[in-house]
Amino acid sequence: MLQVDLEKLRNDYSDKGIDLTTLPSAPIPLFSVWFEQAVESGISDPNGMVIATCAELAEISQRTVLMKSFDEKGICFYTNYTSRKSRQLNQNPHISGLFPWLALHRQVSFQGEVRIMDPEQSKRYFHSRPRGSQIGAWASRQSERMSGREELEQRVQELETRFAGREVPYPEFWGGFEIQPVRVEFWQGRNSRLHDRVVYSRSSIEENDWEVSLLNP
Ligand SMILES: Cc1cc2nc3c(=O)[nH]c(=O)nc-3n(C[C@H](O)[C@H](O)[C@H](O)COP(=O)(O)O)c2cc1C
Repeated sequence: MLQVDLEKLRNDYSDKGIDLTTLPSAPIPLFSVWFEQAVESGISDPNGMVIATCAELAEISQRTVLMKSFDEKGICFYTNYTSRKSRQLNQNPHISGLFPWLALHRQVSFQGEVRIMDPEQSKRYFHSRPRGSQIGAWASRQSERMSGREELEQRVQELETRFAGREVPYPEFWGGFEIQPVRVEFWQGRNSRLHDRVVYSRSSIEENDWEVSLLNP
């Protein structure tokens, strides 16, 4: 039997709210401030983002990836282009990404469309990774079934021999996606469930002007 009373498990947040008088006109400057605060707070993996993808309506799926860069154009992460998520994104580029900064009583969610990153940028990032991660990217047929761990370890050994004494080449089946947002929501926990929610939205990824709204918690 579970010894925890889940119905009583709740946190009443005493945090200050979002300062609505100094909101920037676009979401990324605010995201940047919150992201830096998440890093400074020392929480684990502040760049961990849960992305939801969906090719068929009955097949919505989520998983964590690491944000590796961001700017006013979008939020970038890297993955295997033959993985399940990539297969779904190739069919349907719409995506949602969530930073669940629970320890800070905050979350930020992005909704938008992905675009495949310029291969030169993916290549540059690939070569900046530790050699073990580079070999790992080659070795993993991400999201495919395997007979056991030995299969993976054997492939790693073969690749280490193949690439011994030279730079690990960039695998074309691996690289970045950029989430180009059309909606970004900031959530700040507050007392008595009267949380703050600020939403930035725009009609399309080509539009430069954002509409800012407050939502009921
Ligand atoms: C903290 C954390 C960070 C992760 N970062 C990445 C990442 O940056 N890229 C990636 O492809 N998978 C990453 N993963 C693994 C994914 O969550 C997922 O298992 C993998 O990408 C396969 O997903 P798919 O089968 O839906 O394509 C991470 C997992 C965790 C828990």
